[in-house]
Amino acid sequence: MRSFLTLGQFIIENQKDFPYAKGELSRLLRDIGIAAKLVNREVNKAGLVDILGSADATNVQGEEQKKLDVYADEQFIQALRSGGECCIVASEEHEDIVCIDSHISSTAKYVVCIDPLDGSSNIDVNVSVGTIFSIYRRISVDGKATLDDVLQQGDRQVAAGYVIYGSSTMLVYTTGKGVNGFTLDPSIGEFCLSHPNMKIPESGQIYSINEGNYIKFPQAVKNYIKYCQEEDSASNRPYTSRYIGSMVADIHRNMLLGGIFLYPSTSSYSKGKLRLMYECNPIAWIIEQAGGKAISGEGRILDIKPETLHQRTPAFLGSKAMVEKLEEFIAATN
Ligand code: AHG
Ligand code: MN
Ligand code: MN
Ligand code: MN
Repeated sequence: MRSFLTLGQFIIENQKDFPYAKGELSRLLRDIGIAAKLVNREVNKAGLVDILGSADATNVQGEEQKKLDVYADEQFIQALRSGGECCIVASEEHEDIVCIDSHISSTAKYVVCIDPLDGSSNIDVNVSVGTIFSIYRRISVDGKATLDDVLQQGDRQVAAGYVIYGSSTMLVYTTGKGVNGFTLDPSIGEFCLSHPNMKIPESGQIYSINEGNYIKFPQAVKNYIKYCQEEDSASNRPYTSRYIGSMVADIHRNMLLGGIFLYPSTSSYSKGKLRLMYECNPIAWIIEQAGGKAISGEGRILDIKPETLHQRTPAFLGSKAMVEKLEEFIAATN
């Protein structure tokens, strides 16, 4: 019996699940895995090399770009360019779509939306950060891919995943047949299957929100937080508050232990802070594939019809029973 299954072996063994792909999606996932290893190498020695701190630039989000934001963005785009399976990239770090123009990619079928480095504010203080990716098939059949190939509803994704650069580095992804987690074994430089068929617990006792924004939260969210904090031993309340500030890290913890992650509209972000195309859609699909729920407060995140590349949405995702309890509070205030 083989002692471990690498990401590459797993992808090949499950290739039959991709009805229309003849290996291209497999190769695309492999390319992402390679870039993740390169980013992991820099994250792991950050502090020893000149990869911390500001890149002295501001991205389209109006955020100060960190050197690792730029490095990660470059690594993923380079891996996608050389892999030849991707025709267009939408990255948090680029205002417009990045066309992967090369003779081999002109026939490429896939579109990748990516948050190259999630949790940038945590890089310089050695707290877990991540990468989030979302893959679609292009809609146009030939010629140059366009923004219309990118702005697809979340339920049209063909693959979605995240990498967490934490106490260990993991790659977690779905292609619509459940969620599987792979842990990087540095001794062989391979992601190995460590968390097959991940399921988020039906309920949990962790709520994750930046309570610094409490004053501006919608009333339903305030009511839900009060519910989380009430004494009720029958339902294991008060719950525990845990907030890391890297979406990937907060989501990954909740995937394993159960919990709910909330990023509502705030005074700074009237539509919520998190971006639909490369944070909320991929994470929402993973959560749903693991048996959880992912809503915007007005419906399912995966049903949102995208209008712009960097549009934001409120996001409430995690254990099904916890999200449904929040929905009760939302319904009661509508
Ligand atoms: P990014 O670093 O890719 O810009 O994303 C940061 C996001 C997300 O990772 C996290 O959940 C959220 O910002 C934290 O926001 P606050 O600091 O406002 O709580
Ligand atoms: Mn950012
Ligand atoms: Mn992010
Ligand atoms: Mn980012």
